[in-house]
Amino acid sequence: SLGAYDSYMSKEIDEQPAVLRRILKHYFPDQQLKINNQLLQQIAASDRIYIVAAGTSWHAGLVGKQLFEDLTDIPVEVQLASEFGYHLPKLSAKPFFIFLSQSGETADSRQVLVELKKLHKLTLTITNVENSTLAREADYSLALKAGPEIAVASTKAYIAQIAVEAILAKAVGENLHLTTAQSFDVQQQLSLAASAIQTLIDKKDLIEQLAATYFDNQESAFFIGRGNGYYLALEASLKLKEVSYVHSEGFAAGELKHGTIALIEQDTPVIGFVVEEKTAELTRGNIQEAASRGANTLIISTEKLQQKQDQLVIADLDEHILPIAAIVPAQLLAYYVAKKRGNNVDQPRNLAKSVTVE
Ligand code: M6R
Repeated sequence: SLGAYDSYMSKEIDEQPAVLRRILKHYFPDQQLKINNQLLQQIAASDRIYIVAAGTSWHAGLVGKQLFEDLTDIPVEVQLASEFGYHLPKLSAKPFFIFLSQSGETADSRQVLVELKKLHKLTLTITNVENSTLAREADYSLALKAGPEIAVASTKAYIAQIAVEAILAKAVGENLHLTTAQSFDVQQQLSLAASAIQTLIDKKDLIEQLAATYFDNQESAFFIGRGNGYYLALEASLKLKEVSYVHSEGFAAGELKHGTIALIEQDTPVIGFVVEEKTAELTRGNIQEAASRGANTLIISTEKLQQKQDQLVIADLDEHILPIAAIVPAQLLAYYVAKKRGNNVDQPRNLAKSVTVE
């Protein structure tokens, strides 16, 4: 039930620290990482991991790419389900396919799974609905443990997907005896992420104010970043547009100047994610380029990368895990803009919770 909340979206955003703790309990009973060993061996023996998903789950897959590549040394491709199935690229010799799906019922993903089964490929579904079609039909399945997600806009399932990807990547890397995986303390990082999210949730009022100032009269916004900051920009933009109906785009920060910057007008909100050390200065430069064309810029950074003009600062976390916390201000921003406009945040127009047509 909703309890004191006005919407499931708001409730589900607040549940996120608890979701991370539940995931840790599930995957680390007695503090020992527990995942089917045969699954780990089959991923470890593959020469390429393909992550297949749609929408927000695809965005979680993009964040997963770096995690898997860094912790397992296996190359990763992240594919949109609706494109992949009908345009199968030349596959590697020993591919392993991971389907990310909150509902486990997305028709675009199911179509790909059916095609891959015809080719006798190995598949895993990571889903929030443990008896869903995709969970049943893949060779393996892993649970997201986010608890029922009712709001159409996916929030807690997105962070759960990244958390489970991180745990799985570590487990596969350890199976391969890789030191990067051995020294990656995923339990500690996910607990720190839970606290970082709680701190942001406790700053809700500030985010509500920012939503009111930046989106007072604006009908178009841009989210930019590099690396995971770019993937965060894509997800933040989707969240805003689906619940607030404000037109928005997520962009790789360096690409803005290659055309899209023409759309920046006086007071256009440009939200920049400065969350990656090696590109922090470049990203700030791109945010500045937008500001000098009149954009009203809002910077989300981390303690380590923080500068005094930044409006929202996330506690430091391993850069692979940081998106779990850094998406939260954007979820809240989308929620408050939508609420201020009187929208039905849980059931935005034209959308359904699970998309069962191709
Ligand atoms: O259930 P799935 O994760 O397979 O759904 C995929 C997308 O339809 C979904 O993530 C959608 O983009 C979100 N509801 C957006 O918030």
